[in-house]
This record gives sequence, C-alpha cells and structure tokens, in this order.
Amino acid sequence: MSAEVVLRTINLGKQYKKRWAVQNMNLEIHRGDVFGFLGPNGAGKSTTIRMILSLVTPTDGSVELFRHQLSTEREAALAKVAGIVEKPDFYLYLTAYRNMQIAGAMTMGKTPSRTMIMDNLQLVGLASRAFDRVKTFSHGMKQRLGIAQALLCKPELIVLDEPTNGLDPQGMKEVRDLIVRLSREHKMTVFLSSHLLNEVEQVATHMAIINKGKLVAQGSVEDLLHSKLHNVKISVLPVKKSLAILKKLKTVKDAALDGDGISALINNADIPKVVRTLAAAQCKIYSIMPQRSLEEYFLSVTEEN
Ligand SMILES: Nc1ncnc2c1ncn2[C@@H]1O[C@H](COP(=O)(O)OP(=O)(O)OP(=O)(O)O)[C@@H](O)[C@H]1O
Ligand SMILES: [Mg+2]
Repeated sequence: MSAEVVLRTINLGKQYKKRWAVQNMNLEIHRGDVFGFLGPNGAGKSTTIRMILSLVTPTDGSVELFRHQLSTEREAALAKVAGIVEKPDFYLYLTAYRNMQIAGAMTMGKTPSRTMIMDNLQLVGLASRAFDRVKTFSHGMKQRLGIAQALLCKPELIVLDEPTNGLDPQGMKEVRDLIVRLSREHKMTVFLSSHLLNEVEQVATHMAIINKGKLVAQGSVEDLLHSKLHNVKISVLPVKKSLAILKKLKTVKDAALDGDGISALINNADIPKVVRTLAAAQCKIYSIMPQRSLEEYFLSVTEEN
C-alpha cells in the first residue's frame, strides 16, 4: 500500500491579469517524500507554493492538505504545515534565541520553552550561536534559523521555497544535510523548490518538473532521471491537428510546435501507441526523432531563461 497523500493540488491555477502564472497543476506528495519542485526562473514555483500555503488565492482548482480542503477548512488543512516562501524575516538586532521566542509566540500563541528552542537550534546546527545577534549571521545561517523557526510548530509537512538559493557550496550542503535529517530522523515530509536539477537530485526522493506554469513530468527521482522519457521531434501533417491529439494523450508531455514539426516528451515504450493514435486520425507521420533525455531537456529549458 502506498503512503498517505499529505498534499494534493487539483488543476491548480493562478492568473495574473491575462497571464497564467500556474495552470492545471496536479501534484501529489506522499508522507515521507522529499519532493523536489523543479523549474527555471519564472516557471511558477513560488506562486504554486503561495497557493499551497494559502498566501494567495487560486484562480482555478484546489489544494488538499492532510485530506482537508484548503479553501473551506483552512485551519485544519494548515495545522501540520510550516513553510518559508522566498526568504525568512528576522529581528536582526535580536539574538537567534529571542527571534525563536518571538516566532514561537506568533505561531503557537505562547513562548516556547528553553528546551524546545535549544533543541531546534541544535537540530539546525546553531545552538552555539543562540545568543548572538542575527545581524552577525551568514546567509546560510539565517536560512537555517528560518527552518528552526518553522519547526517550532512541530510540522509534519515543511514547504521550502528555494532554500539553497544564493548560498555558497558549503551553505548549500548544510541546508541539504538538514533537509535529509528532517526527513530521515524526524520523519517529516518535505516539499522544496529549486531551479537546479543537481540540487534536487541530491536530496529528493520524488520530483516534479515545471516550465511556464505547467507540469512537465512528475515521479520518483529514480524513475524520472533514469527513465526513457525523451524529448522527441515529430514530423507530421497536418501539424495543428496532430498537436491537438498529442496534447490530449496522457503519455505525451509538453507537446508544442517546434519549427515545422512538434516537440514533446515521450517515454520510448509509448511511441508505438502514439504512432497508432496519430495514424488512426489520418495524420501522416514522416519521422520521430529522439533529441534529448529528460535531464538534457531540463537543462535546455533552464538555459533558455
Ligand atoms: N504578484 C504578481 N503579479 C503579477 N505577476 C506575477 C506575480 N507573481 C508572480 N507573477 C508572474 O508569475 C510567473 C511565475 O512567477 P513565480 O514567482 O511563481 O516563478 P518562480 O518559479 O518562483 O521563479 P523564480 O525561480 O524566479 O523564483 C512569472 O511570470 C511572474 O512574473
Ligand atoms: Mg520563486
């Protein structure tokens, strides 16, 4: 039996003016997953996370957390969830300890005990700096202090928007190690976004790749990176009709016009079925050429930005 679904988004979408920042986002995160949400700049990561944490209202679709509908049961849905979007805020002239007291009082309604504060600072590797002012902290230390604050409410799901962004390699490693510890030793489910495949690959068990607001692929890191999912170029006539058919097929991802053909992500094993479907609709296929692996595809999408 597979683990409980702790977070599910159903056709989630957000429109700003006329542009859709996120569209038809269907994500499923199970208990115990470290879920990497991967996409280039502007792909819609922060917008999706803001909708999950109820910081912006979706234009379309819904979010379900621990089986509660976020739109109608907000409090119950968010009870076991903590999140940091973009970067955490601190009182820079106060100590890490005092910041923890204030953050605890805000999220829990009472000042957390000394033991609780010190345990969490210990967990993120900041116990020895507890009584130093936050203004003396490095960017990486602030990031970890933000996580320590988020942990005060004992979340079962922690949502982190680009937690390693802007850190040096050592800082990145410290945050990655912390994420692994939260998952392994504290049995937390972690949802983190990143624009670096390599970062996600090192910590995540599962991932989703998004581009231009849309889901491109989702699955276990192992399956996705070792999958036979390939970016293919299809030469077919008539192009528009074929594209409409391909877009409706579940096995075909990210189908789009590309020069005088169509590019799409397809698993090798599904190619015969795709060919049959197009042929049955009287479309003429001239060629299907594999171009890149999913990894190369992601890197190319990232480079476009
Ligand atoms: N408040 C807003 N008003 C208008 N457009 C917005 C707003 N917030 C985000 N957008 C647009 O939505 C799209 C997705 O933005 P988002 O911040 O979610 O991307 P991201 O994946 O987090 O990018 P980055 O890696 O740069 O953080 C962008 O085109 C952005 O300009
Ligand atoms: Mg962002």
